[in-house]
Amino acid sequence: MTDAIVLQRERGLLTLQLNRPDKKNALTRAMYTQMAEALEQADADVDIRAVLIQGSSECFTAGNDIGDFLEQPPSDLDSPPFHFMKSLLNCRKPVIAAVAGAAVGIGTTLLVHCDLVYVSRDARLRMPFVNLGLCPEFGSSLILPRLLGHAKAAELLLLGEGFTGEQAAAWGIATEALGNGEAALAKAREVAERFETLAPGAVQVTKQLMKSVDREQLRRVIEEEGALFVQRLKSPEAIAALSGFITRR
Ligand code: COA
Repeated sequence: MTDAIVLQRERGLLTLQLNRPDKKNALTRAMYTQMAEALEQADADVDIRAVLIQGSSECFTAGNDIGDFLEQPPSDLDSPPFHFMKSLLNCRKPVIAAVAGAAVGIGTTLLVHCDLVYVSRDARLRMPFVNLGLCPEFGSSLILPRLLGHAKAAELLLLGEGFTGEQAAAWGIATEALGNGEAALAKAREVAERFETLAPGAVQVTKQLMKSVDREQLRRVIEEEGALFVQRLKSPEAIAALSGFITRR
């Protein structure tokens, strides 16, 4: 267990709060494992109606801990980041995300697998995989070109350009952009609490229908991306870029 993830249960809502402010909520192996287990428990618990994932009103997450990527890189599709994303993809309950400040790497990728996403207008989202010698992950190479068209998705995935919360909402990556981080967190909580009053069976069946169309294709793409990502982590390109982040500090 780690206090870098704060779990809070209030009636039918489970909140997973990323709480590693000194490292911009960068995700360690222990954090992924705790989030994966929490999502699995929420999925199995009939009394949980929805899950809320949030950082603080200042920062969502700087993505995977770069030290971990160098020291204990995920080596197969059972490694902690894969375990976490699998639990997110398999979660039958609605998952709501509240995003303010930076949402980098997996911090952006995970959003396309949540159901409702509330961002602050000035949130800073970015998928700098190529910049780190890596490649897209968890279906983003499939989902983003579909949402944005190839040419715009290429700007985000090939060039690793950042974008704002306002753009994320305009492009359909987020549900709504709000004035600031506090407002994004408040709106996400208010929406998550609404699931207490909605019929849980109808909610689950609807989510299942919305996700079932592409399930098989998504599974294949995620496996392909995952295998390449694991390989790329060992590449000289990635080792140089990741070490550069550590040594520049
Ligand atoms: N892994 C490990 N540590 C990280 C981290 C990460 N992904 N992101 C930030 N940190 C650490 C920094 O090393 C720094 O630690 P230190 O104070 O001990 O030196 C601390 O968090 C604060 O980061 P800093 O860069 O000073 O904050 P900032 O507000 O100027 O910038 C970010 C925030 C998120 C834009 C910037 O930290 C960043 O780009 N991080 C890397 C993101 C990334 O590439 N993630 C991996 C994607 S696959």
